[in-house]
This record gives sequence, structure tokens and C-alpha cells, in this order.
Amino acid sequence: MRDALDRLFREFAFQTSGRFDLLPVDHLPYAELGAPDVDGDLRRRIERGEGVISVIGRMGSGKSSLISAVAAGLDEGFVPLRVSVIGVEAGDPGAFARHAIAEIRDLPVTELTRHEEKALERATAERRATASERELRAGFRIGTGSVLTAQVATDIKQAAHDELGGKVPAGEAIRGMQRLLDVFRKLKRCPVMIVEDTDHWGGSPGLVGAFFDQTIRAFSGLDSVMIVAAQRDYTVLEGYLRIRDKLAGEVALPLLPDARRGISRILESRMRSVDVSVDITDVVDGEGIELLSRAYAESAENGYAGDLRRTISAMRVALEVALSEPNAEYVSGGHVQEALARTPLAPTSGLVTAEP
Ligand SMILES: Nc1ncnc2c1ncn2[C@@H]1O[C@H](COP(=O)(O)OP(=O)(O)OP(=O)(O)O)[C@@H](O)[C@H]1O
Ligand SMILES: [Mg+2]
Repeated sequence: MRDALDRLFREFAFQTSGRFDLLPVDHLPYAELGAPDVDGDLRRRIERGEGVISVIGRMGSGKSSLISAVAAGLDEGFVPLRVSVIGVEAGDPGAFARHAIAEIRDLPVTELTRHEEKALERATAERRATASERELRAGFRIGTGSVLTAQVATDIKQAAHDELGGKVPAGEAIRGMQRLLDVFRKLKRCPVMIVEDTDHWGGSPGLVGAFFDQTIRAFSGLDSVMIVAAQRDYTVLEGYLRIRDKLAGEVALPLLPDARRGISRILESRMRSVDVSVDITDVVDGEGIELLSRAYAESAENGYAGDLRRTISAMRVALEVALSEPNAEYVSGGHVQEALARTPLAPTSGLVTAEP
């Protein structure tokens, strides 16, 4: 079993520094983890073209993972557009709109078309199986093929360029945003704006409140779909509460009901992705799994998701601790205990500056 441990370590099986576009690789749908099907819930809300949807969970609970996986699985009629909150006055709707338009203008064509290409590959495979064309939302039938793909990307980027080209005053930027979104619609594409790095505001409740109260309020009036990651602590801020009824929906990440089973599945799936095919129970003993599951459950509040990042990181550290012993054949409860002590629980959000 030492070989398996070595391989898991060498191949970074339990590394958690996932980039947004790589998160889908490790994501397991909640239904497979014994929890309510929030993947399906979020997907259906997007497909209904519903407006602003907030995805709620504590820090490290899996918001970005869920959003990236659902976005990656959307049909070719949808265009996921990631908009970062970094380097913009996020509480100013006009500034945020201009920033979002600029991000779309500056997206490499390849990035704009990658989702569509992947979705088309999937759809082609499905069609082969079912021999039926897929009807998309609002009865659109999406034309396929690379010519349209390139044209779509070029038209969109040109429109974004025109919007920023000059005449639009900052106060008009929201309308400019709508015009750009309309270009997507004309091309029979539904833009899905994704704002998932909202943890970057750190400890500023004022900024978070203003982002929801001002910017999300303005964007909720647009004919578009937007997904916003929200730390659970944000949802009690006044700025959030004031616009809550403007949201098309909230998707709260659930606690894994059977933490032991869910965590085992997640760890085992990471083992498989680096070609380690033994059972998780051969790698970690019963006490170790129990300690990891308990740590996850203890980081959860009121039945909502716990800190998955810390749980997976603790497993990585426990593996290192085990490997530092020349004769260890598996990760023991003792190793996990030491790892948990070395991997402090993160605060529930950036708003909490110190641990209790
Ligand atoms: N459903 C899942 N299946 C497998 N792994 C998951 C799942 N959800 C989250 N993870 C893993 O847990 C870690 C934390 O997830 P993620 O980065 O999505 O959390 P987050 O809520 O966005 O955190 P933050 O608040 O810091 O932005 C990642 O390494 C991710 O791969
Ligand atoms: Mg995140």
C-alpha cells in the first residue's frame, strides 16, 4: 500500500488549489454524494433564463466547484462569462457594467468559443445516440459548426468594443450592458455571467453590502442570467437582505447528510483520477475517515455545507505525515489528527477576521 501512498503524494491527488476552469474535473454532483440535487436545481434555474441566482455557502464549501461544473455542462446555446470583481468598484453599477463589458471585449476568441465547442462535441455524441436534434430554450434551434462559432465570438467582441468605444457615459453603462446582452440573444445565445470570486473583498461588509444593494439590484433588472457566489455571512447583511426579493433564486449548498460516505466518495474520486484504484479504506483507516468526516461536519452550521477545502487539505497533510514515517503502509487516525491540528479551520467568510 506504500506504493499507493507514494503515488497519491506524487500526483497531488489531494491538492485543492483548483483553478475555476479545472474545478469541474474534481466535482461530484451532490446527488451522488447523498445530498439534494443542487446541481440540477442550479442548472434548471439557468436554463429558465431566470435573472440573478445566488449560490450560498461558507468559505471552502464548494460554491465555485458547483458553479464551474454546472456552467461547463450547459448546452451550446449558453455562453458562460466569468466576470471578476478584482480591480473594480464593485458597489458602483456603472463601473461594474463597464468592467464586465471590457472583460467580454478582452476575452480571447478561443475562450469565448471553448464552451460551445465542448458542448457541441457532447451534443453530437448524444445525437448519435438518440438521432434527435436538441431544441433549446424559447424554441431556438442552434445552428452548429465552427463557422457560426467564430462569427458569434467576433460579433460579440465587436459589440463590446463598440459599447466601450466612447460615447456611452458611465451612467449609461448599464444600458450598454443590456445592448451587449441583446447581441448574444440575437445570435441565439444566452449569456450567463458568473461572479464567483466575491471572497476577494475580505473583511469589508460595506463593499459587500453595496455590491448587492447597488450592482446586483441594477443587474437584476437586465434580461440576462447571472450567478453570484455568496458567502453565507453575506446573506445577513442589510445590503443583501434589501435586494433578496430581486433575486431569481438562491441555491444553498447542503450539508452532506452522510459525511463519511460523501467525503469517502470525494477522496476516492480524486484517487481514481490519478489511477490509484484501491479502496479509500485501504488508504486511510476507519478512525482517520471518521476524524475527517467529523471535522467536516463540525465546520457546518445549521444544516448547511461544511468546509470541504479544509477536509481535503487535511487529507493531503495526513498523507504527508504518514509518508514521513518510513514504515507507514496507510494513513492512520493519528496521522489525520496531526494533520487537522496543522490545518486550522478557516473562518466562515472574509467578514470574520478572527477565529473564535
Ligand atoms: N461537489 C464536490 N465534489 C468534489 N469536490 C468538491 C465539491 N465541492 C467542492 N469540492 C472541492 O472542495 C474545495 C473547495 O471548493 P470551492 O473552491 O468550490 O469552495 P468555495 O465555496 O468556492 O470557496 P471560497 O469561499 O473560498 O471561494 C475544492 O478543492 C473543490 O475541488
Ligand atoms: Mg470560490
